[in-house]
Amino acid sequence: MRNIALMASGTGTNALNLIEACRRFSQVRIACLIVDTHESPLPEIVRKKYPMLPVHRILPMGGLKGDDRKREHETRIIETLEGHEVGHVLLAGYMRILGPVLLNRFKNSIVNIHPSLLPLYPGMDSYQRAFADNVQESGVTIHLVDEGIDTGPILLQERFPRLEGDTVADFIQRGKDLEWKLYPMILEKLNESATLLPGV
Ligand code: GRF
Repeated sequence: MRNIALMASGTGTNALNLIEACRRFSQVRIACLIVDTHESPLPEIVRKKYPMLPVHRILPMGGLKGDDRKREHETRIIETLEGHEVGHVLLAGYMRILGPVLLNRFKNSIVNIHPSLLPLYPGMDSYQRAFADNVQESGVTIHLVDEGIDTGPILLQERFPRLEGDTVADFIQRGKDLEWKLYPMILEKLNESATLLPGV
């Protein structure tokens, strides 16, 4: 059995979708969910709906700053991941940039979903920026996480059109629908293979 962790900061629609989708596969399981904010409603929702799934709210410590703060935070995250014998981590709206502590421990094993056709529109508010630029199409990219911002090797990428009369909300909804379709494909890959590295 391959143990997967989810990490999220916000509303967590992708995390919830992955938890549900994972039930279809026999060789992978969601071993834990880590949330790094006080504001996210996700822990309460998941504890109620999936009482057997361990949920950890892990926030950075007050007092520390910069690299020390990230190192300490990621060290505690790793302890939790190791406690659940996690092999892969799927970021689902996790809003922190990962540091070397976490990246080195889980090399080529951390995945992110990004709401654009990378390398276009890395960073924040990608759907909104693409829409404001009047693009004819946008997309969703799933990639391995490296030390850059939305730069790691691409695992999956799919396009969606901007339709005439689209509001920004329509456009984002089309993107989210695609995210919910694509991200479970990573579970399917991990159900069949121990690595996500392209070409291995
Ligand atoms: C998604 O748009 C994802 O592509 C990005 O963060 C957002 C998270 O949304 N990385 P949700 O919390 O899963 O609804």
